[in-house]
Amino acid sequence: MSEQHITVLKREAVEYLNVTKDGIYYDATFGKGGHTTQILSHSPKKLISTDKDTLVTPQIIQDNFQFVNSDFVQFLKTTDLTFDGILADFGVSSVQLDTPERGFSFQKDGPLDMRMDITQTKSASTVVNEYSESELVEIFFKYGEEQFSRKIARAIISKRPFSSTLELANLIASVKKQGKERIHPATKVFQAIRIEVNDEIKVIEEFLDLAIPKLNSGGRLVVISFHSLEDRVVKHKFKSFQNPCTCPPKYPCRCGKISLGDIISKKPIIPSDEEINSNPRSRSAKMRVFERKLLLD
Ligand SMILES: C[S@@+](CC[C@H](N)C(=O)[O-])C[C@H]1O[C@@H](n2cnc3c(N)ncnc32)[C@H](O)[C@@H]1O
Repeated sequence: MSEQHITVLKREAVEYLNVTKDGIYYDATFGKGGHTTQILSHSPKKLISTDKDTLVTPQIIQDNFQFVNSDFVQFLKTTDLTFDGILADFGVSSVQLDTPERGFSFQKDGPLDMRMDITQTKSASTVVNEYSESELVEIFFKYGEEQFSRKIARAIISKRPFSSTLELANLIASVKKQGKERIHPATKVFQAIRIEVNDEIKVIEEFLDLAIPKLNSGGRLVVISFHSLEDRVVKHKFKSFQNPCTCPPKYPCRCGKISLGDIISKKPIIPSDEEINSNPRSRSAKMRVFERKLLLD
């Protein structure tokens, strides 16, 4: 079992956080702790990190660091703290992907699981074996942008139940045999099932809405996503935080909604060619940065 997770945009993400020695920071997605360690190297007053995966066990012991085994939405709903910087590196860690028993991999055999939180009941098996054909088509299309969504959904319905990842991956490969993609034929469907199992898109929207009010003035929200749908959510949310006014253009504002701050990254920040060469999994990463501004009266 590989225990490697190479942190994406490690230096850049933490540079954008502007870590200061008297600041309080929050790393929402601890994973293997790469960003957390980088933040701690700037000696902040306090850093709290969360991960919903109950198998994540940080080895870092120091006074200014606290780990909470929690979903980031639950954490933000309950914490009284406000932060000078919040970082989120969404998606799945390589540790999760490369551990066959977690069921994320289409290359190594494992159970149809894909739960980031192993205490939840909905798993990949629920989706593959219990969802209707039309639900499967919608998920594969929406979360995977899979061109063969209908064909694959129909084949799954006629051949189920499935119990292992390779059984499913082989079926998808046989349905898509004429495909000319460079990536493995099951990549998109596996991604779609993972997003559905962990409700990843809805959770990101909730996270962004909860994170902004938790930022101190001048505090930054740094977000890394790996999927165009996730990045679109971040982009639109950041735009609406910067300009929440919903009044028709050319009319004076009546809604009274004021800007929550500024988008710092006019374009998404992406890994360098060097980083992509040394870590091909970083190729689809996009980072966006927002800075909170509070109006002082
Ligand atoms: C891409 S990895 C983070 C890697 C980390 N930045 C590093 O450098 O090692 C994403 C992590 O976020 C966690 N995660 C995903 N959704 C979460 C949620 N809703 N709440 C808390 N953690 C979550 C996953 O369990 C996974 O460990």
